[in-house]
Amino acid sequence: MSQQVDEQHARRVVAQHAKTSSLFGVDFIPVRGSLEPKPNADTRGAVKALKALRARYEQERPHEPFISSYKNIVWDDGDPCARLMFVGEAPGADEDEQGKPFVGRAGQLLNKMISAMGLSRESVYIANVLKVRPPGNATPTAEEIEASKPFLIEQIKIVRPEVIVGLGLPAAKCLLQTNEAMGKIRNRFHEIEIEPGETVPVMPTYHPAYLLRSYTPENRKKVWDDLQMVLEKLGT
Ligand code: URA
Repeated sequence: MSQQVDEQHARRVVAQHAKTSSLFGVDFIPVRGSLEPKPNADTRGAVKALKALRARYEQERPHEPFISSYKNIVWDDGDPCARLMFVGEAPGADEDEQGKPFVGRAGQLLNKMISAMGLSRESVYIANVLKVRPPGNATPTAEEIEASKPFLIEQIKIVRPEVIVGLGLPAAKCLLQTNEAMGKIRNRFHEIEIEPGETVPVMPTYHPAYLLRSYTPENRKKVWDDLQMVLEKLGT
């Protein structure tokens, strides 16, 4: 066998192994290339706008009628001009401590999912529906979601991602005004209108914390399927 044929064969075997492993939910295994950054991204402008929005949030504190005992506002992480945005539910204890979203166990799994997509955490944008930790990590109420939603929408308008992944039901409820179960809404794109006539596709999928609680090959395959559709949409 020539060296070229050898290499082709090795590449095929590795790709096949990765595909089989991911299909059987063995783990999230990187199978794709990276994402081109947005052309003409105004990173400085986006950073400035996000900072101003955060300052307004800190002044208005829309969480105050509901949540008073927290350590840090957990605002965002990642590229303010990202093509892909992840929206989670609310900070947990680790996030509250560090003031950064998705840094605990669920965050570690999210990092794995992102790198399995062939992306880096720095190249995506991550935010939550709620910006402060609800006491006891309670599921956000409809009132809490409504109070924080305008700020999330503004974040989306500044970042202008090409695709949003809604992690878990509270994120899906907030973005898509739905009360349907995740099993009914995942694995297809929905739309959120951020300006009249301007929509962003949203893929709802299971929250990494749910996956950790129910780490079955079936659930991992479902999430991986959803993320593959996101990659298709992004053209990678
Ligand atoms: N779960 C979330 O939804 N967001 C975080 O930042 C951490 C855990």
